Amino acid sequence: MAKMAIIGAGNVGATLALFTLQKELARVVLLDIVPGLAQGKALDLSQAAPVLGYDARIKGTENYEDIADSDLVVITAGLARKPGMSRADLLDKNSRIVSQVASRVKQTAPAAVIIMVTNPLDVMAYVAMKRTGFPRERVLGMAGVLDAARFRLFIAQELDIQAEDIEAIVLGSHGDRMVPLVGHSTVGQRSLGEVLSYGKIEALVQRTRGAGAEIVGLLKESSAFYAPAASALLMAEAILKDKKWVLPASVFAQGEYGLKDVFVGLPVKLGQGGLEEIIEIDLLPAELEALHKSAQDIKAVLARLSKSLFQTTE
Ligand SMILES: NC(=O)c1ccc[n+]([C@@H]2O[C@H](COP(=O)([O-])OP(=O)(O)OC[C@H]3O[C@@H](n4cnc5c(N)ncnc54)[C@H](O)[C@@H]3O)[C@@H](O)[C@H]2O)c1
Repeated sequence: MAKMAIIGAGNVGATLALFTLQKELARVVLLDIVPGLAQGKALDLSQAAPVLGYDARIKGTENYEDIADSDLVVITAGLARKPGMSRADLLDKNSRIVSQVASRVKQTAPAAVIIMVTNPLDVMAYVAMKRTGFPRERVLGMAGVLDAARFRLFIAQELDIQAEDIEAIVLGSHGDRMVPLVGHSTVGQRSLGEVLSYGKIEALVQRTRGAGAEIVGLLKESSAFYAPAASALLMAEAILKDKKWVLPASVFAQGEYGLKDVFVGLPVKLGQGGLEEIIEIDLLPAELEALHKSAQDIKAVLARLSKSLFQTTE
């Protein structure tokens, strides 16, 4: 059975551990810096196993030795947003945390594929790739699956139909300038424009862009975690089961869509090796322009990263 390490046993990490166990997708090692936290949650999750009927293949730990030889490492360690904060506001603290975590992953699980969850997502994926030295195929950021799920749900609620009947894709940054591809979204066999007015579509796009903040505003002390954990699970399944699913994920662009040297959400084929292919779909000129603006936002946040980050923690 594959081995999955989850770094950070907070809301997203512990929920992902539960979902992974329920699917019996992998053996799980849950690691947190807070003494006892991962062990306590692992024990609790084990005790749910006899009731829910899954194998309790989980270990909680503070020790990186326990993640040795993991096939997949999902990084959720770091601070989450509070009301009024943007994802970029987490940059300084989380870049230090992710930098430390990635160094340990490089030592103990050098062959793993990494799924980054920590925000600001696209920049944290870059930090992990730089810090580990892993090839771009093995460092992916989770955002597009979540953003598309939110968009699909909002469309479904508007039309009073099931979200499974809706295809949607969201590219670009995991931020206010994410790019829901309205032209590629369908309801059954019909385009979105056939079933909803321009004004309604625009309102749904805006709600999708602000969906994370909407939840932060309600929860106040934490940010969303059920749908984020479910989205990370889908990516994990694609990789660990070599599904070759095409999903949106943040990947290091090297010329695709005219983008270079930036982690940004693009449609990708995911399989055992992680990123297997970046799928280039035809975008409308306005969509391509929005994607480029979104990538510029990510580059601007990256530029704010302390220049010393990669020197001081070397
Ligand atoms: N990509 C996305 O779409 C998405 C969605 C939701 C949340 N997030 C991000 O995921 C991160 C985690 O969110 P959460 O709600 O689980 O937060 P949380 O506060 O519940 O959990 C974070 C955990 O990380 C641990 N941690 C901190 N430093 C660590 C270190 N050096 N090593 C190991 N563990 C460490 C903390 O002890 C805590 O248990 C946040 O940055 C959040 O913004 C991203």
